[in-house]
Amino acid sequence: MHDGAALQGKTIVVTGASSGIGLATAELLAQRGANVVLAARRTDRIAALASVLRDGGARATAITVDVSDADSVQALVDESVRSFGGIDAFVSNAGVARLARLEDGDAADWNAMVDVNLRGLLHGLTAVLPVFRRQGHGHVVAVVSTSGIKISPTMGVYAATKNAARTVMEALRAESTDGVVRTTEISPGFVRTELADGMDEVSREQIQAGMRAFGLDPVAVARAVCFALEQPHDVEIGSLTIRPTIQD
Ligand SMILES: NC(=O)c1ccc[n+]([C@@H]2O[C@H](COP(=O)([O-])OP(=O)(O)OC[C@H]3O[C@@H](n4cnc5c(N)ncnc54)[C@H](OP(=O)(O)O)[C@@H]3O)[C@@H](O)[C@H]2O)c1
Repeated sequence: MHDGAALQGKTIVVTGASSGIGLATAELLAQRGANVVLAARRTDRIAALASVLRDGGARATAITVDVSDADSVQALVDESVRSFGGIDAFVSNAGVARLARLEDGDAADWNAMVDVNLRGLLHGLTAVLPVFRRQGHGHVVAVVSTSGIKISPTMGVYAATKNAARTVMEALRAESTDGVVRTTEISPGFVRTELADGMDEVSREQIQAGMRAFGLDPVAVARAVCFALEQPHDVEIGSLTIRPTIQD
């Protein structure tokens, strides 16, 4: 069940919309009547998806962004406001996972995860919170991970960046009790996406085997994002975890 009208005409920016959870979220938001801004680095993919969504009757646009670059995220927010007159929600979903045992870790991989998973969220907040303040309303949804709840070998730094993002979201919640900004952090478990593609061969095979065996369809997370966004303004869904039922 969902409130069919709640997202109608709302403008929602989704980072990491070129694949996986972000793509499924953008599609579902468009189906439910939202204006969608699809943001990611792979321009060809988001442009093609925005075109499909427009063909289906939605208002959708693609904006290339690298969330690790503050200026790029500021430009994403500025262009979204120019195109749609405001932003009702910002879904900070872009993420990378480079898994390794700490003794085998690579500083470039650690930096990439900090830059995208943590700094990417901060760049989004810096750009969008002034817009929310001016409008008098806005909603930030951050996709974090159950890997920060149950810490497994090789996932230490990835989980650390996700838990840092969770902490930032809790701080934002605590600073937002004047009713302007709503916050939601969503922790998926295993979801079948492209997340493992950038991993080394050993991790990739292990994670992809898990995704194939019991990973959720990304639309399961997309539904949770919509559930949080569809609540009336006085209701804040703070935190959700979504695991495959058989995940430990
Ligand atoms: N799949 C899972 O099992 C799982 C579980 C828990 C949490 N998560 C989280 O869910 C989120 C989405 O991941 P996914 O599983 O859907 O994986 P995915 O299919 O690999 O999607 C990741 C998205 O992030 C984008 N991205 C990566 N670096 C970026 C950057 N610097 N700037 C802008 N966009 C960037 C990618 O687009 P471009 O490459 O086109 O930029 C892509 O659209 C991530 O935050 C991930 O950590 C996933």
